[in-house]
Amino acid sequence: MTTERRLRLPGIAFGGDYNPEQWPEEVWAEDMALMREAGVTMVSVGIFSWALLEPSEGVHDFARTDRILDLLHGNGIAADLATPTAAPPAWFFKAHPDALPVDRDGRTLSYGSRQTFCPSSPAYRTAALRIAGALAERYADHPAVAMWHVHNEYGCHNAECFCDTSAAAFRRWLKTKYGNDLNALNHAWGTSFWSQWYYDWEEIIPPRATGADPNPTHRLDWRRFCSDELLSLYTTERDVLRRAAPDLPVTTNFMVMHNFDALDYWRWAPELDIVSNDHYLRSTDPQSETDIALCGDLVRSLAGGRPWLLMEHSTGAVNWQPVNRAKGPGEMRRNALAHVAHGADGIAYFQWRAAKAGAEQWHSAMLPHAGTDSRIWQEVVRLGADLRALAEVRGSTSPARVAVVWDWNARWALEMPCQPSGELRFQDLVRDWYTPLWKAGVAVDFVRPDAPDLDRYQLVLVPSLYLVDEGGAAGLAAFVEGGGTLAVGFHSGAVDENCHVRLGGYPGAFREILGVHGDEPFPLLPGESVGLAGQVPQDATADLWTEHIRLTGAEAVAAYADGPLAGVPAITRHAYGSGTAWYVATHPAPTTLAAVLGRVREEAGVRPEREVPAGVEVVRRRGTGADYLFLIDHTGRGAEIPADGVELLTGKPVVGSVTLPAGGVAVVREPVAGPGGE
Ligand code: GAL
Repeated sequence: MTTERRLRLPGIAFGGDYNPEQWPEEVWAEDMALMREAGVTMVSVGIFSWALLEPSEGVHDFARTDRILDLLHGNGIAADLATPTAAPPAWFFKAHPDALPVDRDGRTLSYGSRQTFCPSSPAYRTAALRIAGALAERYADHPAVAMWHVHNEYGCHNAECFCDTSAAAFRRWLKTKYGNDLNALNHAWGTSFWSQWYYDWEEIIPPRATGADPNPTHRLDWRRFCSDELLSLYTTERDVLRRAAPDLPVTTNFMVMHNFDALDYWRWAPELDIVSNDHYLRSTDPQSETDIALCGDLVRSLAGGRPWLLMEHSTGAVNWQPVNRAKGPGEMRRNALAHVAHGADGIAYFQWRAAKAGAEQWHSAMLPHAGTDSRIWQEVVRLGADLRALAEVRGSTSPARVAVVWDWNARWALEMPCQPSGELRFQDLVRDWYTPLWKAGVAVDFVRPDAPDLDRYQLVLVPSLYLVDEGGAAGLAAFVEGGGTLAVGFHSGAVDENCHVRLGGYPGAFREILGVHGDEPFPLLPGESVGLAGQVPQDATADLWTEHIRLTGAEAVAAYADGPLAGVPAITRHAYGSGTAWYVATHPAPTTLAAVLGRVREEAGVRPEREVPAGVEVVRRRGTGADYLFLIDHTGRGAEIPADGVELLTGKPVVGSVTLPAGGVAVVREPVAGPGGE
């Protein structure tokens, strides 16, 4: 049995979801010819094909899949073979209606779409393992199969089911967590409040719709349970596949993208042989390139710094937003190569051929409805060539000296009802801090709060960590004591892992290292802002949040210039142990925050990868014998950037500087840089 299962494909993988079962077989030959023209090397097959693979319970029809896999193999294209368990067939629900999910309001949802099943249903689990096992047995040794793709986007549509079966599974999970001790649960949940004390495990139910606000710890444990419950579905399928094919890597596609927060991917990632991710742009996001970078860095970090695969994104418009914006010329290329810059060793799309029928008929694809006589197709072919030119980048990593703390528990807790402000969104707060670093060309890793190896970094940023346990708080304190620079955002450290407030002053867990004492939050109303004065740019402002703190060792870097807290410190700096800890007790406007974090970073001795003009993204991947400097122009004007080496996309030598075309990308192979990238 191998311990390390890698994707054994040369270069950067290129492809997409391939659904030939939706087309007459005459079309397949054209698919193969065009895939070869575009340089496709791997496609994901069978993701939603359960109803065709198993026409009735226990009866399998693999003839079509045999032909598809043989055809792919004959054309030198690898298959990422999916288990189809995200879309149980209608016959399954006719036989097992109790496997349908129930929403928070008690409504049983119907089949007729996808991802509509109860994750705790024994009948679903049995059926899922049966089809996964049959696929594994039949195709473990098929030469086309390079990887297993388990299910699809766990939790995308059915992260929570509130039925009685789920309730029983929740109780089992709680019994394990609390060692069968109901009193321990009562204390953790604070159930002496509002007469919520439980005398019998059977009294505990999921946080279904109720008249008033939910118990935050009940809700938090529920979210942890839901993530773990889906994870157990993944691992049981994975184990079936592994038994049949011990050497094949197994993945499932994550959804590290804006607004999806159902799963604690720190717990999931170690269970995957290769981490893969889906990422879609929001039409309303004016700076979606930042989202690509942030999510790419987070996925790379989930993968332990190793390369990952972009399993899905779009060549153009999606079909599930109120208005689905098409991508402009060159945007798809910038998007794809940005994912590579942030660590992707594979670029894939939903989907290969645009659907004619079904709910996704208006979703873009690699091969549009218009066929090859289309801008998208031309860009797809060009991208295939680009990825071939970047083959040697495969396997390279990204050295970073800044870590940003990211935690799903803190995210869930922060966004619970009844906070001092309902306006706080974890990912927005993190992105606010990430953006100036990204703009400055500073490489960033994401870490969990209790990461054991923080001393690898010079600077650790904690934009938002409302909830933190003792281990996380102690690790961050040790980092500062040991000489590191830490910056902490407002309303952090406020509660423990049970969502209980840390008493004695805010920001609870970090009071001592930050050298401040807070006694009252003063959140601002939407549209309200306050001025900041001190060592910040003129006219500095902040919005969203202020709080009353006093200094207990820290110095004030800035104070409120007006508003209810005029004169109160807003940004502080504290020498602690051999290091420095900053507190940003408010939500500064972007330019103010950029200035503050710029100073924090300079004091910590962290330099950009390369000085580049505003609007040019710069990212370094480090190979064994070379560095790869990715330059992406988001200005539309292009630039001349100092560099020496070879520009891989054109194959041209670079002497002194490289020309970055307007809206274009350059990737320069350079000699390996010294520590820190200079
Ligand atoms: C993803 C999903 C794909 C497809 C795509 C459309 O969430 O995995 O199957 O539906 O969205 O954008």
